[in-house]
Amino acid sequence: MATVIVAGGATGIGRAAVEGFRARGDDVLLVDHRAEAAEVAAQDAPGRCIFLHRDLSDPAAPREAVEATIAAFGALDTVLVTAAVMNSAPLADWTDAMWNDSLALNLKMPFFFAQAAAPWLAKSDNASILFTSSTAALRGNAGMPAYHATKAGLAGLARSLTAELAPLGIRINCILPGWIDTPFNNSFWDYQDDPAAKRAEIDGKIPLRRHGEPEEVSGMILFLTSPAGRYVAGTSLVIDGGYTAV
Ligand SMILES: NC(=O)c1ccc[n+]([C@@H]2O[C@H](COP(=O)([O-])OP(=O)(O)OC[C@H]3O[C@@H](n4cnc5c(N)ncnc54)[C@H](O)[C@@H]3O)[C@@H](O)[C@H]2O)c1
Repeated sequence: MATVIVAGGATGIGRAAVEGFRARGDDVLLVDHRAEAAEVAAQDAPGRCIFLHRDLSDPAAPREAVEATIAAFGALDTVLVTAAVMNSAPLADWTDAMWNDSLALNLKMPFFFAQAAAPWLAKSDNASILFTSSTAALRGNAGMPAYHATKAGLAGLARSLTAELAPLGIRINCILPGWIDTPFNNSFWDYQDDPAAKRAEIDGKIPLRRHGEPEEVSGMILFLTSPAGRYVAGTSLVIDGGYTAV
């Protein structure tokens, strides 16, 4: 049984992870800016769950989440960060403010979680921080420079934190999902003239010939954060149905 923070879990991969953690008896603090996350926290499950309603692009939010976790459960073993923003615009329209939004949520927020959580994680006998990067860290799409740059940046952040925190027994890893069926890609589909044709084109390039489900990512999250994953540190794991392999 572990105590877990999930940063972003009203929907998608974070929600599947909350459900998986609680099913195995872990206690979870779920922090999200969407009020609907309260419904996820209210589900019946062996592990307890409390919901903290916060905008995670506020640099104070990670520390508040850690403090609320310690106040409620008295310990911390795992931090899973999933919340992110994907802005898209033509090159000429990109502004300093758009860059700052992406940097605040996608890159600085995971760092501030590690900073706030480290003293508590150091007391755990299976401490782990998991950042949700993306196969966008490995390949590029036009119009999304900040998304690709911040997702690639998480790998460097995980390596630097590993050098500092692995000697204290804290493992930091990244997962890189490919195309997963969640609301995250809604703006991408809305942007397409023919979303069904675009989806068929994308699925045709995935060796498994389909999108993944959030539960197919949370399976890896549950493994990496469990004692079975306790020698995996400082690395990035791709979960993409073979998309970046071919
Ligand atoms: N879905 C995909 O195809 C895909 C592919 C690769 C990587 N990812 C990554 O997976 C992660 C999770 O995405 P998902 O697909 O589960 O999407 P999602 O939209 O279902 O989940 C994101 C969660 O983060 C929360 N969130 C977003 N901004 C927030 C903020 N400022 N403050 C607090 N909470 C906030 C949302 O409310 C939501 O609950 C993201 O980091 C994304 O980059 C997704």
